[in-house]
Amino acid sequence: MSGGKEPTYIAIASGKGGVGKSTVSVNLAVALARMGKKVGLIDADIYGFSVPDMMGITNRPVLRGDSIIPVERFGVKVISMGFFVEDNAPVIWRGPMLGKMLNNFFQEVEWGDLDYLLLDLPPGTGDVALDVHSMLPACKEIIVSTPHPTAAFVAARAGAMALRTDHEVIGVVENMAYFESQTTGEKEYVFGKGGGDKLAEELQVPILGRIPLRQPDWNEKDFSPSVYAQDHPTGKIYETMAEKVASLVPTSIS
Ligand SMILES: Nc1ncnc2c1ncn2[C@@H]1O[C@H](COP(=O)(O)OP(=O)(O)OP(=O)(O)O)[C@@H](O)[C@H]1O
Ligand SMILES: [Mg+2]
Repeated sequence: MSGGKEPTYIAIASGKGGVGKSTVSVNLAVALARMGKKVGLIDADIYGFSVPDMMGITNRPVLRGDSIIPVERFGVKVISMGFFVEDNAPVIWRGPMLGKMLNNFFQEVEWGDLDYLLLDLPPGTGDVALDVHSMLPACKEIIVSTPHPTAAFVAARAGAMALRTDHEVIGVVENMAYFESQTTGEKEYVFGKGGGDKLAEELQVPILGRIPLRQPDWNEKDFSPSVYAQDHPTGKIYETMAEKVASLVPTSIS
């Protein structure tokens, strides 16, 4: 880390793809920033970067001397491979370069003083997840899962890996937990039920939040398709989640 005190690292992991790691990373980062925390977010999904689009980031980082100044959006300092790729071209690098890139995100980026630096990991227990484990031995982890019992079973592997590498899992986020009818308020458990609890029990950690299936309200003027507004019902769930995270992993100055 250059240019600041050592932040608390929190990686957002899952056993498989598409369960909502990036959505949770982005919204937890924004919710922590809304609490007044100084927050950074590394899109560590080098091949499958998605954070810039999800947050509606259209500008690019600027260079100051040898360091890269992260892009700030909703009070969160963001860095992503997507900033360094022309015209959404696919990234075709292999193993060792991945580790190098990730290392650059720590070494060459001027983060300044941060309370929390969140990492949106790629799916599964592959190379990047391993690199993060070895580069950041004190990293905390949040495991995202859908409520389906088999999804939780897969997610447990990510949890097991975290434990093997001495990363403390601080909790489980159950995403797409239910669908709530906006006319009757009735909850339907479209992806099953119980997976999050099962996983939390297995890892002996709390559930940090249950996020329903629902899109943010889109604002054409300031487009950020995956960020829930502070007064959106899901935004409030993220606010509560951020408070839980802040109380579970206090920063050195709070
Ligand atoms: N609670 C939710 N309600 C509605 N849509 C959601 C919810 N969570 C995630 N999605 C949508 O599901 C898709 C997958 O989410 P996301 O990209 O966050 O998952 P991921 O785990 O990061 O995927 P990958 O493994 O590819 O990185 C996205 O289109 C996202 O907008
Ligand atoms: Mg993702």
